[in-house]
Amino acid sequence: MEFKKNILCIGAGYVGGPTMAVIALKCPEYRVEIIDIDEERIRQWNSDNIPIFEPGLDEIVKQTRGKNLFFSTDIKNGIKKADIIFVSVNTPTKTFGEGAGMASDLQHWEKTAHTIVDYASNDKIIVEKSTLPVRTAEAMERILKSSNRGIKFEVVSNPEFLAEGSAVRDLLEPDRVLIGAHKTPEGLKAEKEMVDLYSHWIPRGKIITTNLWSSELSKLVANAFLAQRISSINAISALCEKTDADISEISYAVGSDSRIGPKFLNPSIGFGGSCFKKDILNLVYIAQNYGLLEVANYWEMVVKMNEYQKQRFVQRIVKELFNTVAEKKIALFGFAFKANTGDTRDSPAIHVTKQLLEERAIVSISDPKALNNARIDLKGIDRDVLYEPDPYKAAEKACAIAVVTEWEEYKTLDYERIYRSMKKPAFIFDGRNILDHKKLYEIGFNVYPIGKTQLTHFE
Ligand code: NAD
Ligand code: UGA
Repeated sequence: MEFKKNILCIGAGYVGGPTMAVIALKCPEYRVEIIDIDEERIRQWNSDNIPIFEPGLDEIVKQTRGKNLFFSTDIKNGIKKADIIFVSVNTPTKTFGEGAGMASDLQHWEKTAHTIVDYASNDKIIVEKSTLPVRTAEAMERILKSSNRGIKFEVVSNPEFLAEGSAVRDLLEPDRVLIGAHKTPEGLKAEKEMVDLYSHWIPRGKIITTNLWSSELSKLVANAFLAQRISSINAISALCEKTDADISEISYAVGSDSRIGPKFLNPSIGFGGSCFKKDILNLVYIAQNYGLLEVANYWEMVVKMNEYQKQRFVQRIVKELFNTVAEKKIALFGFAFKANTGDTRDSPAIHVTKQLLEERAIVSISDPKALNNARIDLKGIDRDVLYEPDPYKAAEKACAIAVVTEWEEYKTLDYERIYRSMKKPAFIFDGRNILDHKKLYEIGFNVYPIGKTQLTHFE
């Protein structure tokens, strides 16, 4: 079949995979190819067990793969054929040199730009899909213009706002799609091309077009604002625990103000995931580089508050278990950074486990989707870790349960059975406030929610 356009995506990860699968589904007349340097990942995308768990994704991949969606490692041919190239490689926090621990590590992204220059043989639109520091397109353009073969590249920014666990829904019905382009004739042509692509399924009113720098910066700001709400509510949760105010009542009361809104006000043991911390630190680094120290310090507090919340959770477990957890079994319910994903990147569970191991506890980890990743995260330090798919077994003979991920199935477990199997006194630390605390208390547990009065049987 003759396709109208060839789309290439470089990077077959959590963003590249689902995003391109949905484009392939909605634009059957476009040929969509996803390439990666990771051969194993591409093999998995071509198999019955795709490499990421995301509700609804399996079906879409099955429907489109081999028709107009292709996974490959053939970077050279992919680039040659493509009219539009999405760059969706990872941009983690730099771990070395200037800006280590703060700035984005752009080495994968830069390599991609050079590879495009090396293999391109006709004009192309290059789309920044990865989250990048503001003004990255400028550097991208410099590299692309270094080709003296007369090929024209137009760079546009199209950041991705999907959240893991709801990626398919977010892609099918996004709040908005953002496209940043230069306001030159070539830039506007590329912008129109992108608008046409998304217009296949997204109402025009939801497609926002801006200049390139606003688009790049909006992505960092959106993540910073979302994370800031979590740090704000978590900060107040600490105050609730001192005052008998109830964080759920506060979230509801405050979020009912239509100017504030109800979403993203769930207290937790802190936000995790591969992006919030990395993107805020990147924002902080950029502000510092422009000499805006107050701006940098303001946003850095969001990350510091998050670290505090994680520490506070573990300190509370240790304190309530009579100031020692040495040789005590503690069951973690959940290891993924949020429910409905197997992703554990920067999961608060990693911090909690490491701290508990430092205190010489035996940590028994249960999670419906993330145990394989947990094994990788804890490799070399997991002598006292048990990996147990069955939460009932994980809790057997444990002194305490810590709910770390808000998996739906933890709400409906038989907690009477669990209580009977545990050492007494039995403790439960609900790091997500998903359980029925009164009922647990009545069963016999000593219950420690986040930002609420504890329910204990002690005098
Ligand atoms: P990921 O690590 O899952 O995927 C990136 C992929 O790029 C990897 O498979 C890697 O092998 C591949 N890659 C790296 N260098 C390459 C090269 N030179 N050629 C070909 N492939 C290469 O990362 P991700 O979670 O998909 O994130 C990608 C970007 O999207 C990041 O900038 C991230 O901040 C952003 N983002 C992520 C999410 C999310 O939910 N994960 C949401 C929005 C935005
Ligand atoms: C987040 C953003 O929501 C996406 O818009 C963005 O595209 C993405 O980052 C990215 O750039 O990578 P994600 O990290 O997948 O998506 O998941 P979120 O739902 O935002 O949750 C992040 C963390 O915050 C999780 O650990 C979650 O449990 C926690 N959280 C979320 C809370 O503690 N409280 C809340 O009220 C909401």
